[in-house]
Amino acid sequence: MLNDSIHYVGDALYCDGVAVAEIIADVGTSTYIYSGARVLHNYQQIVEAFAPLGAHVHYSAKANANLHILKLLIGAGAGIDVVSVGEIARAQAAGCPAEQIVFAGVGKTPEELAYAVQQGVGWVNVENVDECRLLNQFAAAGGRTMRVALRFNPDVQANTHPNIATGHKGAKFGLNADDIRYLLNHQADYPALDFAGIHVHVGSQLGDTHATVQGIQSAVDLVRPYPQVRTLDIGGGFPAPYTDAPLPSVSQFAQAIAPLVAGYDVILEPGRSIVADAGILVTRLLYIKQQGGVNIYIVDAGMTELIRPALYHAHHDIVPLHRASPQTAVQVVGPVCESSDVFAKDAMLPALQHGDLLALLDVGAYGMVMASNYNQRLRPAEVIVDAAGESWQVSRRRETLADLAQWDEI
Ligand code: LLP
Repeated sequence: MLNDSIHYVGDALYCDGVAVAEIIADVGTSTYIYSGARVLHNYQQIVEAFAPLGAHVHYSAKANANLHILKLLIGAGAGIDVVSVGEIARAQAAGCPAEQIVFAGVGKTPEELAYAVQQGVGWVNVENVDECRLLNQFAAAGGRTMRVALRFNPDVQANTHPNIATGHKGAKFGLNADDIRYLLNHQADYPALDFAGIHVHVGSQLGDTHATVQGIQSAVDLVRPYPQVRTLDIGGGFPAPYTDAPLPSVSQFAQAIAPLVAGYDVILEPGRSIVADAGILVTRLLYIKQQGGVNIYIVDAGMTELIRPALYHAHHDIVPLHRASPQTAVQVVGPVCESSDVFAKDAMLPALQHGDLLALLDVGAYGMVMASNYNQRLRPAEVIVDAAGESWQVSRRRETLADLAQWDEI
């Protein structure tokens, strides 16, 4: 969807005050372009909606770990939610103090836990009884007390795509209620840990607030007898507007949650809702083909640059850099040797010629971070338009053939 930052000025697509075509003339395709202003706007919406709850936002770096985006959010007061040492390093490189980092993940390695202790990350969200044992050993050896939030699997069904639901029984995520009670009853066995929080994240791109409310209610009921649990980390999951279908707003989430969390400190881990609609992927039309009655546009980006359509049948609007009419339905596909490398079966686009430019919208979340080198393709460049909306810079350069070769030991 177009928005206040990704918009047309006349018939030309702009990112805030910068013509997208101007960037592409310099950087080429395919290229991710992010609006710093939109990132900050989305962040502020969440901060304001949750201000009455006194919530603190830890931006989920897995959605987009671009250093400029991390820096903008850290500068605006966000902590960072990470799931690997790679993301810890990235958050720190962007200036996040270790104590503002929340470290989550269903399968942290011993090395990762040791690193988290050594760095002094603020919270470890633990998902396994054995993980507590390991973390306690590392913390004791390092002479530190680590703050832990126990991740609870509340057994709720989130209204979202099955691949991004996490809070149902049988999912690999979280601890069940019995394990959480066991750990809280045995706090004394983990002297280097402080079981100060409970964590619940039921899924991403949530279509309503029900599962979130249910999950938090069960979490609060579970920890009520344990006054040492003072913090509720309610995860992320707020949806991004990929289409004009109605979605719950962040204020609706805040209002639905408010009565449940009184008396607790609240942590949020939003990713998608902050960055999705701040990013576009610009691609060039390579070839046009009519096949089996279908008009096919073959573009120079594919599932290697943006895997969401192939992986989740995700919808991303596709718009031309130069708007024109009339428009007809076309299939837009990438160049990768996979039948699932299709961005859209029925994008409405004007008649275009090879060399023309298109933008896939709402790709700021889970876009570049999920890009791969499959087919030995080079990952795209990333550009950031500054928060004032006036100037832009390459934030990560396009990969080169030398980059591809650098890991080989022959
Ligand atoms: N916290 C935890 C524990 C999570 O597992 C996630 C996302 C988040 C926070 C951030 O959720 P968000 O606010 O972004 O919904 N690749 C998929 C999305 C995977 C989400 C994984 N966990 C996609 O492209 O839709």
